[in-house]
Amino acid sequence: MAAARYHGTRLDSRDFRPLPGEEVPSPATLVAWMRDSGLWAKAVRLRWRNLLRLQSDAPVVLLLSDGSAALLVGRDVAREVVYLKDPRTPPGDPPVAVDELRLLQLWQGTALLVRRMRGASPEEEPFSLAWLARMVLGERRILREVVASSLTLSVLQVLPPFLVMIAIDRVLTHQSMSTLILISLIMALIVGYETVLGYARRELVEIMSTRIDVRLNLHVFARLLALPIDFFERMPTGGTTHRISQVFKIRDFLTGKLLSTFLDMFTLVVLLPFLFWISATLAWMVLAVSTVIALVVLAFLPPIRRVWGTMIEAEIKKGAVLVETVHGIRTVKALALENARKLEWDERVADAGQARLQAGRIANWAQTLVTPLERFVDRGVLLVGAYLVLTTPSELSGISTGALIAFMMLGTRVAGPLIGLAKLIQDIEDVRSSVTQVGEVLNNPTETAATRGGLRPVFEGAISFNEVTFSYPGSKTAALDKVSLDVAAGTMLGVVGRSGSGKSTLTRLLQGMNRDYAGFLKIDGTDLREINLTYLRRSVGTVMQDNFLFRGTVLDNIVAGRPNLTLEDAVHAARLSGAEEFIERLPRGYETWIEESAANLSGGQRQRLAIARALVADPRILILDEATSALDPESEALVHANLMRIAHGRTMVIVSHRLASLVDCDQILVMDRGRVADIGRHAELVERCAIYRHLWMQQNRHVETHGVRPVPKPVIA
Ligand SMILES: Nc1ncnc2c1ncn2[C@@H]1O[C@H](COP(=O)(O)OP(=O)(O)O)[C@@H](O)[C@H]1O
Ligand SMILES: [Mg+2]
Repeated sequence: MAAARYHGTRLDSRDFRPLPGEEVPSPATLVAWMRDSGLWAKAVRLRWRNLLRLQSDAPVVLLLSDGSAALLVGRDVAREVVYLKDPRTPPGDPPVAVDELRLLQLWQGTALLVRRMRGASPEEEPFSLAWLARMVLGERRILREVVASSLTLSVLQVLPPFLVMIAIDRVLTHQSMSTLILISLIMALIVGYETVLGYARRELVEIMSTRIDVRLNLHVFARLLALPIDFFERMPTGGTTHRISQVFKIRDFLTGKLLSTFLDMFTLVVLLPFLFWISATLAWMVLAVSTVIALVVLAFLPPIRRVWGTMIEAEIKKGAVLVETVHGIRTVKALALENARKLEWDERVADAGQARLQAGRIANWAQTLVTPLERFVDRGVLLVGAYLVLTTPSELSGISTGALIAFMMLGTRVAGPLIGLAKLIQDIEDVRSSVTQVGEVLNNPTETAATRGGLRPVFEGAISFNEVTFSYPGSKTAALDKVSLDVAAGTMLGVVGRSGSGKSTLTRLLQGMNRDYAGFLKIDGTDLREINLTYLRRSVGTVMQDNFLFRGTVLDNIVAGRPNLTLEDAVHAARLSGAEEFIERLPRGYETWIEESAANLSGGQRQRLAIARALVADPRILILDEATSALDPESEALVHANLMRIAHGRTMVIVSHRLASLVDCDQILVMDRGRVADIGRHAELVERCAIYRHLWMQQNRHVETHGVRPVPKPVIA
């Protein structure tokens, strides 16, 4: 940590996640921890000599054999000592001089080099074709081997026809048995070599594809998660996932067509000189016809792609009907909508079918046009060649029977790479558009800088808004308009107001979800924008009306993957939130599996689980945004009964439209169209705030008339 501070970064021990079973932190986990926090770190093995010669002034972390660490802060080459500092001693203490013998008793040679990350880290570079190219070229070593083996394979493919040529011309005409044996041996050798090399090349290509695939996946997901929430709110989920799925198209292209066409071109390069050597006339013919084939394919690509696009669109619409129907099957059944859905489905199926037929037809035309040309390359050449043999004396034409057959064997290989090249031109356009689409998602500004840098003050939990004004991007009216208020640490703030008055927006600003507001928002006097975003969100627990539970056990859901939290913490949090009572009655307790959408839990149970999840990290500030609004009165009462215990030692912000649950709050904030209408205690508000009184009366009319519960008498102004 001290090494990090030297570079102006603070580490959070809560980010640190040791591997299971690791008692002493291993260098690898330490490095991962530092990299996550925006530092460059590398574990190295050093010798005493290296230590003395290190050029940098920055501290080096020596990992000692007993699991602790020391900082190397200086060296004196003349006296052959290094200066070490124990990070646990106060910063003012002078470092200790240690010589080789003493150091080697404690230290096995593992050290961490730490420095500040320079420039943009890889995951912050924009997603573009250039980025992709760099990533592929990053696999230089494998790429080089693939290319070398492909070249060799291409040569090997040319050899057998050459041998056939010799076999026919020499063996058959001269009846030479010894040549036949020699050729057979060479053939066998080639086949063996080809098999092994082919295996090696496929293996290399697989390794390379997998690496590219993994890197692409990791990068895309990391970047997606780094995007701020308002991006996801602006772009519909369907749009985001569709665009992201284009990544896989890019991957298929990179590791499939691009590579294979590239390798095919090698064959062509090796092949053509050989063909020209046998017969220039025939070679020109083959080349010309193959080019025509490639041009035909190229000409057909745009219409095929257009129809193909229509087809895919129709398929997507068809899929949407299916998903929607299965998703809403309860409503479909309850309202007897089966026939309506079927009708809709029929139409979509018809559309998709029609588009598919059309695409097939166009492809068929292309194939039909190309077939005679292809046949010409493999059979026509024989005829023309035979004609050449017959009409010109063989010394002039230079074509023997064997050469003709060898030519036939090879000629068909010319068209393939050319067609591949034609398709590639089209595919590159395709991939370019895919890259643009993915870029539309990934190249938005991320929150990464804010989650890496920033302060990590110890929170008490005092909140202050000072003239905070905020409007959502694209909206003209302000969601918050000059909001000022102060909440002392450890107190409870209730927030009420009509729907759309800005209550949730207030809590979102507090969590740093939206950061481009005007005015000042401070926690314990520290400006919110100065605080490390991850740290802030960890210190501010939130429970919303609708909480997403992940597939996994109850325990998984409470801990939610946060490091260093144990079952004990989870049980404690569950007890506080009132979830313990029902968890213990579940068949497998904390190990009970929660299904997707948590159908096996009731709304109240889900909500209490969400509160436990928010509480488990012991946040200084807890926000409940309509957390109990959707609950039945009994569950709501249960949660509220625990509220006082939960509130102990933290600042609470409770948004609720049921005023009865806010009566005990230290302050109640009344919001109206983004403004603070009033703020005060319940009794004061009932007296002086018209909006509050109105709401209160509305909700408590029955109580008022029946006198079940004594409530402060509203004074009508
Ligand atoms: N993600 C969003 N994007 C654009 N406008 C929003 C968004 N969320 C809320 N708003 C708008 O901001 C205003 C305040 O909303 P909100 O804070 O959710 O109100 P409340 O929680 O009090 O019902 C509303 O007019 C709403 O339409
Ligand atoms: Mg709301």
